[in-house]
Amino acid sequence: EKPILQDLHGRDHAYLRISLIERCNLRCTYCMPEEGVKLSPKNHLMTYKEIYTIAKTFVDNGVTKIRLTGGEPLIRKDIPTILEKLSTLPVELSITSNAVIIDKFIDVLKANHVNKINVSLDSLDAAKFKHITRRHEFKKVYNNILLLVKEGFTVKVNAVLMKGFNDNEIIDFINFTKDLPISVRFIEFMPFDGNKWDMSKMVSYAEVMEYVNASFLKENIERLQDAPNDTSKNYKIEGYKGSFAIISSVTNPFCDSCNRLRLTANGQLKNCLFSSTESDLLTTLRKGKSIEPVIQKAVQAKFKVRGGMDTLKKLQEPKLHNNNRSMITIGG
Ligand code: GTP
Ligand code: 5AD
Ligand code: SF4
Repeated sequence: EKPILQDLHGRDHAYLRISLIERCNLRCTYCMPEEGVKLSPKNHLMTYKEIYTIAKTFVDNGVTKIRLTGGEPLIRKDIPTILEKLSTLPVELSITSNAVIIDKFIDVLKANHVNKINVSLDSLDAAKFKHITRRHEFKKVYNNILLLVKEGFTVKVNAVLMKGFNDNEIIDFINFTKDLPISVRFIEFMPFDGNKWDMSKMVSYAEVMEYVNASFLKENIERLQDAPNDTSKNYKIEGYKGSFAIISSVTNPFCDSCNRLRLTANGQLKNCLFSSTESDLLTTLRKGKSIEPVIQKAVQAKFKVRGGMDTLKKLQEPKLHNNNRSMITIGG
């Protein structure tokens, strides 16, 4: 019988997100503080061998899906080697990237059976893109999304919505799916250390649907079946090639069906996106000890909802969410 990582709330954990690097070639305001984050010393980051060894232990314990994140995973120099090593494991391997340089990796992604790519893109307007990312890379990202589709990848575009900034682009994003078979996912802005989160800056699931209902006929808006353990609520406009969705971690969390664990670039296991508790797998591994008991213990300690911030009131207490890392060092 195959072992599974089950927590005290009956949830099985078959999905591991591995952050490969704490740095990024963009500087998104919702993801990192303006002054940057304190980086781990290089020898505190997992080597590709350590990533493989830890990933293999998770796979031996029932993990069937691994997503690579960052920072920006593709700026890690040994990314081809990491992909090659991980592709030998019996898992679905995927990646979340800002796509700025992904055109250089088409062959290596294909060779290692990475078929699903999630791309972060928060605006379809070059000036706004510059404002949010503090970098002039809009054209590259846009063209690379088209390239990925042309090359046959399954592409999801992640757009974090912020009130008064890009909520007027919701319909433009949906129209982007008219001729392009992608899924655009609108994400509720979430609080992390240093990102100046405030509930009033967030655009909720309900508000997105207000825009949608005001722009499309009711009979043309189709609610799709969500995949098991999906983060998103999926919809489609009749006749459009692609679809759209909402990731409502704030107003409508999907913790009941959470199957995720996270490994940070410096080898710390986080049992929840919102939990500030970390388990040091890397030090355990470097001491030559088994990481399995550490993983089991971390899974058993997982809170039922949002790392213990089960109410919107708790989520809004800065001392609770500012205990966590910045998103750039968690990996989403
Ligand atoms: P799929 O494998 O395509 O389902 O991707 P995904 O949604 O798991 O991953 P992605 O990296 O594209 O993340 C999209 C958004 O969902 C990001 O804003 C994440 O922060 C958010 N998200 C991902 N996992 C979790 C989670 O476990 N809890 C919460 N609350 N949000 C999450
Ligand atoms: N709130 C919601 N989503 C976020 N992401 C990064 N920071 C935040 C935040 N504060 C998203 C990115 C990326 C995904 C992995 O996480 O847009 O697509
Ligand atoms: Fe899972 Fe925590 Fe995200 Fe809820 S908030 S879905 S428990 S990672």
